[in-house]
Amino acid sequence: MSIQDLIRTKRAVRDFVKQPISSEVQLAILEAGRRAPSAMNRQPWTFLALTDPEKLEQLGEVSGHAGHLANAAFGIVLLIPEGHWPVFDAGQVSAYMQLAAWDLGVASCVGSFVDPAAARAILEYPEELRPVCCLSFGYPPKDAEGPPRRGGRKLLHEIVHWNKWGTTLP
Ligand SMILES: Cc1cc2nc3c(=O)[nH]c(=O)nc-3n(C[C@H](O)[C@H](O)[C@H](O)COP(=O)(O)O)c2cc1C
Repeated sequence: MSIQDLIRTKRAVRDFVKQPISSEVQLAILEAGRRAPSAMNRQPWTFLALTDPEKLEQLGEVSGHAGHLANAAFGIVLLIPEGHWPVFDAGQVSAYMQLAAWDLGVASCVGSFVDPAAARAILEYPEELRPVCCLSFGYPPKDAEGPPRRGGRKLLHEIVHWNKWGTTLP
């Protein structure tokens, strides 16, 4: 798929079929994240890759907004230090990883942790890092296929101002 088609058709998918993701595909997703740009090329991130179904389930239970981890075939927790730019950088990683996954037929969803301490108790990462979000990956159910539904996005004329504030297209 072209990058335009990947962007257009990618949706947040929270239900996955019980099909493993090969380590080759897992590494391709991680590699896409590694390639993401970052402020001053600091690459402030660490990727905590989750392949253990027990860990995925435990995290899904404590996360609050990432219950979809529980039935994912693969998960990644994005760990960053405090600061403004690391959050932005993690967003770039997240987009790169999800688009690379979708290119390989793997669906995904972002999830956030309402109780980072509970996540840390399970994953044992250093205290100075924080789990900005997690990503669930898995193959989408067959009935999720078919024509992509309409974007559910604001239209360009609602969000773009040309040259100065107030000059929008009709
Ligand atoms: C920063 C960010 C945080 C998100 N957090 C969650 C979350 O905690 N749980 C969840 O189920 N989806 C989460 N999502 C997925 C969004 O709800 C989803 O991308 C949005 O509703 C658009 O859906 P669509 O891409 O299928 O159109 C998050 C997405 C982003 C970019």
